[in-house]
Amino acid sequence: MAGIELILAAICLNSTCLTDTSLSTTATSFISNETSSLAEKERNLANLRNALNGNHLKVATLEDYPLSYTNKANGTVIGKGVSFDIVDFLAEKFNFTYDVVVPDKNIIGSSTDLSGSLIEILRNQSADIAAAFVPHLADLRQYIWFSTTLDEGEWTMVMLRPAESATGSGLLAPFETAVWILIIVSLFAVGPIIYGLIILRNKLTGDDSQKPYSLSHCAWFVYGALMKQGSTLSPIADSTRLLFATWWIFITILTSFYTANLTAFLTLSKFTLPFNSVDDIARREKHFVAQRGGGIEYAIKNDGELLNILSKMVAKNRAYFTMGLNDTETLMDYVEKKNYVFVRDMPAMKHMLYLDYRYRKQISMTDEKIHCPFAVSKVPFMRKKRSFLYPLQSKWSPLFEPEILNLVESGIVKFLIGKNLPKAEICPQDLAGTERQLRNGDLMMTYYIMLAGFVTAIVVFGSELIFRIVNERVAAKRTLTIGNFETRKDKSKKIVMGKDVTPPPTYNSLFFRHGKQATDFNVSQSQHNFEDSFHGKRRIINGRDYMVYEGNTGEKRLVPMRVPSATLFQYSYTE
Ligand SMILES: *[C@@H]1O[C@H](CO)[C@@H](O)[C@H](O)[C@H]1NC(C)=O
Ligand SMILES: *[C@@H]1O[C@H](CO)[C@@H](O)[C@H](O)[C@H]1NC(C)=O
Ligand SMILES: *[C@@H]1O[C@H](CO)[C@@H](O)[C@H](O)[C@H]1NC(C)=O
Ligand SMILES: *[C@@H]1O[C@H](CO)[C@@H](O)[C@H](O)[C@H]1NC(C)=O
Ligand SMILES: *[C@@H]1O[C@H](CO)[C@@H](O)[C@H](O)[C@H]1NC(C)=O
Repeated sequence: MAGIELILAAICLNSTCLTDTSLSTTATSFISNETSSLAEKERNLANLRNALNGNHLKVATLEDYPLSYTNKANGTVIGKGVSFDIVDFLAEKFNFTYDVVVPDKNIIGSSTDLSGSLIEILRNQSADIAAAFVPHLADLRQYIWFSTTLDEGEWTMVMLRPAESATGSGLLAPFETAVWILIIVSLFAVGPIIYGLIILRNKLTGDDSQKPYSLSHCAWFVYGALMKQGSTLSPIADSTRLLFATWWIFITILTSFYTANLTAFLTLSKFTLPFNSVDDIARREKHFVAQRGGGIEYAIKNDGELLNILSKMVAKNRAYFTMGLNDTETLMDYVEKKNYVFVRDMPAMKHMLYLDYRYRKQISMTDEKIHCPFAVSKVPFMRKKRSFLYPLQSKWSPLFEPEILNLVESGIVKFLIGKNLPKAEICPQDLAGTERQLRNGDLMMTYYIMLAGFVTAIVVFGSELIFRIVNERVAAKRTLTIGNFETRKDKSKKIVMGKDVTPPPTYNSLFFRHGKQATDFNVSQSQHNFEDSFHGKRRIINGRDYMVYEGNTGEKRLVPMRVPSATLFQYSYTE
């Protein structure tokens, strides 16, 4: 029955089929009865229409930019916003005029908060309809009727945009803590393991071709490999070579993972807000601000609502409900100055941020971080259906309901809500598009490492000094007991020992083995003589001067000639 009624209602939406007699004549008696009751309904509606025609209504509303708000002109209040677009449409269609009534306080109202509320006006029957997007709160049903649902309101949170989520810890980010710990453990463990295995091998095989490296050498090798630096150790035994290679492979894989992950982390890192949902707010007891008398307040304070978990925070003064109507001011006062989280419903939030964005765009043209100091959470704080209100037993609701339903179903309400907003998302969570340059904050870790390194070096240096002084004292004490004479002898011996190390033969002497005087050597003066004298040839190889010189067995030897490299050569090959 209900289904057929609905279908018929759909067919007869525009009341054109009221007098369609062909339907009733061709249909069965059952349907004729249906149509007759439908006809009765239509008659009632037509009567209502007539009653409303030329009538004067009172429309209550709330200040809730951009959904409903009022302007005062010449002493009369004029309703604006999406709600009044709808009311104006109804007024035009049903030919009525209306006055706008505003409650004393700008609140929706609840059982415990009635005085001066929107609900009170409707309850007194001093308004015929409330043109405001009022969330469906269970508590309200005893006082009013809800109209057809206009939209589903989404309340979200806006907060100060945190600095990039990779602050400081960026360099540690590629690996989990457990991985870091294991890397450090292996760093300390592998050196001794290699050391022990070399000794064990030498013991078991009795082969001493592989000379055992000292423990410090092994540890240094492990550390050097981790830093991708080479090592001068070149093991001979196969098992030792395998040990070394294993560590190298491990390090190669580890470092390439680290590099790749760090790159990915810095370029694609997901932006995360500190507070994403109601749970975050409740758990960390974050201060938040919402509108006084709005859906959020009643959803927290009324019994049996979803946000009841936050009522504890109200008791602890963590929640603040502002009477301020200017969202921009609320944003400045609470979010920017006090770092609160501001909870507001979606179209208002978007308008507020868009205004803010346009204002900041004037201040700085290019820097997107200045344009978007705020970020909006993606998970809604609360979702609730919203609709107009009628007083209980409202006379006009049967007339208005189908019209409002039409507006909703045809998407007109949705269009009106998004009317003055840009299509693009304003200040999205990820400010993509801007190339992220590393800031000092990101490199903090490297600075700390440097600092720690320097401090350790200074400490070690200090301790070396102390040890030296202590050792000298000990030595002095010992020598004192032996006698003054011996000390002096000791000291002189020491000095002689230092001088004992003969410096390598001078570079020149290498070329003047055939009895010529070393002082003759002067490249710029007598190159020709010089070349003749050793049967060598001067060549420039890779941009450097070399003497190409034939050895006894006929092999060619290159001897660098330019003075600095010659000096280096001399010291590295003659020591
Ligand atoms: C039509 O409906 C009325 C009540 O609405 C009922 O009394 C009547 O018997 C019905 N007639 C038929 C033909 O079903
Ligand atoms: C609309 O109402 C006015 C009175 O407010 C009346 O004069 C006018 O005739 C009405 N129009 C229609 C189409 O009924
Ligand atoms: C307000 O009154 C002035 C004249 O006093 C008139 O010109 C103007 O149109 C009025 N505005 C509105 C919105 O009625
Ligand atoms: C509504 O009724 C209450 C008493 O029930 C009264 O105090 C209040 O003034 C009335 N409000 C309006 C707008 O008539
Ligand atoms: C809200 O406050 C800001 C800053 O005080 C002001 O510029 C703006 O005009 C106000 N908006 C409204 C609608 O009053």
